Amino acid sequence: MTSIALAALEKGDMMETAIIIRRAKKGDLEKIVENWKGLYEHHNKFEDIAYKRKANSTNLYRRYLKKQMSTSKAAIFVATKGQYMVGHIMVRLNMLPPIFVYNKEGYVDEIFVRQGFRGKGVGTRLLGFAKKWAQKKRLDWFGLTCHVKNKKALRVYRNFGLRGFQFKLVRKL
Ligand SMILES: CC(C)(COP(=O)(O)OP(=O)(O)OC[C@H]1O[C@@H](n2cnc3c(N)ncnc32)[C@H](O)[C@@H]1OP(=O)(O)O)[C@@H](O)C(=O)NCCC(=O)NCCS
Repeated sequence: MTSIALAALEKGDMMETAIIIRRAKKGDLEKIVENWKGLYEHHNKFEDIAYKRKANSTNLYRRYLKKQMSTSKAAIFVATKGQYMVGHIMVRLNMLPPIFVYNKEGYVDEIFVRQGFRGKGVGTRLLGFAKKWAQKKRLDWFGLTCHVKNKKALRVYRNFGLRGFQFKLVRKL
């Protein structure tokens, strides 16, 4: 997609086409990679060192994405408008320590909606697909982590019915 086409789309052109959410296919790979870049640009506003990426991070991510697309222990859903990808979510099985009765978590690794499409319910719909996947897999939890400064995302998650559970504390060594 050209940047002009995307800018027009984000300004609201072609709004008559519905936004469809479906399981990601092989052909979506590069568009998801573009979303991932947007996700990191967004996070670098909150932190630089913690989110500092390796020079070959795009290739490493591409490899990870392919793996997650081909395992039954993860799922990627994309939100598309015609041929354009407006967002995606990646959810995967995260095993908690075996001592717990409820130790299988459906963990959202990443969720991203392109700027011009935010606030239209796409993120909430993506969360709904990911949660349903976790329920079908009979997992015990549905969760994610979020940067403390990402207030907008935190509000979306709370509205979706998620609650704050743990607080992660770190310092760089
Ligand atoms: C966080 C993110 C995924 C949320 O996606 P989104 O599509 O904007 O989320 P929603 O539209 O479902 O919800 C956002 C708001 O729109 C409202 N909304 C929902 N449906 C709506 C509709 N049909 N029309 C207008 N507003 C709507 C929601 O109530 C919510 O309102 P609030 O801001 O008052 O809480 C998106 O903002 C994003 O990609 N951010 C950048 C990357 C990021 O931070 N990722 C998360 C990392 S943890």
